[in-house]
Amino acid sequence: MKVKQAAKVQSKWIKTKILLQNSSIKPFIPDTRRWNEANLKQMIRDYKMIYIKPERGTYGNGVIRAEHKEGSYKYQLKEKVHNFDSFPAFYQSLSRTVGKRSYLIQKGIRLLKHSGRRFDIRVMVQNSPQGVWEATGIIGRLGQKGKIVTNYHSGGRPLAIGTLLQSHLGTAQQTRLTEELYALGVRIARQMNKTYPNIRQIGVDVGLDAGMTPWIIEVNTNPDPYIFNQLKDKSMYRKVMRYRRAAKGK
Ligand SMILES: Nc1ncnc2c1ncn2[C@@H]1O[C@H](COP(=O)(O)OP(=O)(O)O)[C@@H](O)[C@H]1O
Ligand SMILES: [Mg+2]
Repeated sequence: MKVKQAAKVQSKWIKTKILLQNSSIKPFIPDTRRWNEANLKQMIRDYKMIYIKPERGTYGNGVIRAEHKEGSYKYQLKEKVHNFDSFPAFYQSLSRTVGKRSYLIQKGIRLLKHSGRRFDIRVMVQNSPQGVWEATGIIGRLGQKGKIVTNYHSGGRPLAIGTLLQSHLGTAQQTRLTEELYALGVRIARQMNKTYPNIRQIGVDVGLDAGMTPWIIEVNTNPDPYIFNQLKDKSMYRKVMRYRRAAKGK
C-alpha cells in the first residue's frame, strides 16, 4: 500500500483493510463491507443487527443502527426509529438516507450496558518519548439513554472503566481485560505505523459483547486527549499530555 504523509487517516475502509493484514488483529475486527443492497441483505440476514456508517465520519454523525426481527426491519438514526415490514421498503428508505455518500456496513456488536445505557471503551496508544508504542490510557464512554452512539460529541459520558465494568467483571478480570486491551492497542498501533510512518498516537474504540470479546469498532488517528481530563484521577491525563508534547517536539 502507498505510504501517506498525513498523520490523520480518515477512511474507515482503508484502516480496516490495513488491520485485516495482521492475523493477530483480524479476529477482533467485526465483518465490515461497503454499503450496497447485496451486502445489506446478506449482513442483516446473517447478523440480525448491523451498524451502517459514513466511511469518513466523526463524532458519531450519520451512524445508523439497523435490526431484523421476525420478518420486520427497523433502523435508528439519532433518536428516530423507522419501522418496515419488508426488506425492499427498508432498503429504499436507507438508501435515501445514505444518498450518494460513501457508507460502510459493519456487524453490530451488542454492547454491554450500564444503567440501561450502552457503553464502549477508548484505548489510547502513543509513541513514547523513547520511541516505543505504549498504551497510555483507557476510558469508558457511556451513551445517553436511547442513543446508539457513545461519542463524547454526541452526548456520551467519559467514565472510569471500573465504574462501567463493575457489574460485569471482578477486579482481577478487569485488570486482565485492561492488559489484553493494552496489548491489542499496541499491536494495532504498530500495524498502522507500517503504512503511516508519521502517526504518533491512536485511539481505539473497542466494543465489548456479553462474551467479553473486545471488538475493534474503529481506530482514530487523531484521538481527543481531553476526555481523560474528565476522570477524577488525573494520572492518565497527565501521561497522555506528556507523551503528546514529546511527540510534537520531534
Ligand atoms: N459495529 C458496531 N457495533 C456496535 N456499536 C457500534 C458499531 N459501530 C459503531 N458503533 C457505535 O457508534 C459509535 C460511533 O461509531 P464509530 O465507528 O466510532 O464512528 P465515529 O468516527 O463517528 O466515532 C461507536 O463509538 C459505538 O458506540
Ligand atoms: Mg469513534
